[in-house]
Amino acid sequence: MSSKCSKRVALIKGDGIGPEVIDSALKVLEAVGSDLDMVPFEVGYGRWKRTGEAMADEDFEEIKSFGCILFGAITSPKDPKYRSVLLRLRKGLDLYANIRPIRGKGLDFVIVRENTEGLYSGLEEISEDEARTVRVITRKGSERIARKACDICLDRGPGRRKLTIVHKANVIKGDNLFVAACHDEAAARGLEFEDMHVDAAAYNMVLHPEKFDVLVTTNLFGDILSDEAAGILGSLGLCASANLGDRYALFEPIHGSALDIAGKGIANPIGAIKSAARMLEWLGFPEKARLIEEAIDKSLKDGVTTPDLGGGLRTEDVTSAVIRHLEG
Ligand code: NAI
Ligand code: MG
Repeated sequence: MSSKCSKRVALIKGDGIGPEVIDSALKVLEAVGSDLDMVPFEVGYGRWKRTGEAMADEDFEEIKSFGCILFGAITSPKDPKYRSVLLRLRKGLDLYANIRPIRGKGLDFVIVRENTEGLYSGLEEISEDEARTVRVITRKGSERIARKACDICLDRGPGRRKLTIVHKANVIKGDNLFVAACHDEAAARGLEFEDMHVDAAAYNMVLHPEKFDVLVTTNLFGDILSDEAAGILGSLGLCASANLGDRYALFEPIHGSALDIAGKGIANPIGAIKSAARMLEWLGFPEKARLIEEAIDKSLKDGVTTPDLGGGLRTEDVTSAVIRHLEG
């Protein structure tokens, strides 16, 4: 590749298959001619087991000096004493929009998930007999995610710009605030929009995915619907995400640390490679991002796949195939 690009990125490979898929992404980034200054941080469950702390305050402060983070996956045990690194980063860096493009097998839409409040607010009271978790919906949080979703709608081609507002306001009355903010924003921007209960959205995603262009929804609903969409595509290992705020961005595949397959060399690296492509686009190198996406499409078309997609190949084989297409 001819032109070089250079920027600073905090690198969090994480646990389980995190390092395996991020190493693939790094090879592809190198092959496309990006010359990023990647600074690794050892944070996560492995670090917690070693030191009793998943991410030290000093690490968090240093990570904040980077605009951009490339992230693999981190194991989060059920232990209430363990504080999720990813939730801390999303909240602490105010990465309020989780953008998850879904494309393939008749699906072509983007899930825009509110990323800092909802049921993942971290406000919990747990006793032996009762557990309460506060679900937070704010006007500010709803308005800004609505703006982001409408921006994404307007960037899509004609005929692909409908906003679907996904909620459960028939039962959870707090969702009315979210729906109203999204309605108002979509109407002000001149967009076509509708709202849909989350259970109906889950159903339609399987049977009528053509109904969706851009979905905007609250934190937990977006988390669940995006794994569902990945399932329809064939694997969690295929999907990428961008966690965006006004100052910071974190790019990660949507899957977790997949401990059941960690260490076997068979994790699907496509979601991580796509996340790296989205990162290049955000850093100002859209052409390199496009080349990576094209190389991925070609290698999937050739049937170069890991076992999750029914193939018999390894992480490194898929990585090499993507790189071959980039170079050829
Ligand atoms: P998971 O996403 O790690 O795995 C779910 C299923 O999908 C497993 O059968 C796994 O083998 C498969 N899978 C996931 N990614 C794959 C890939 N790239 N290639 C092939 N197969 C893949 O979700 P799970 O099992 O619920 O969570 C495992 C751990 O990961 C937990 O500790 C959880 O807290 C953490 N997690 C972390 C996330 C993050 O760091 N962003 C997101 C989701 C879960
Ligand atoms: Mg998830």
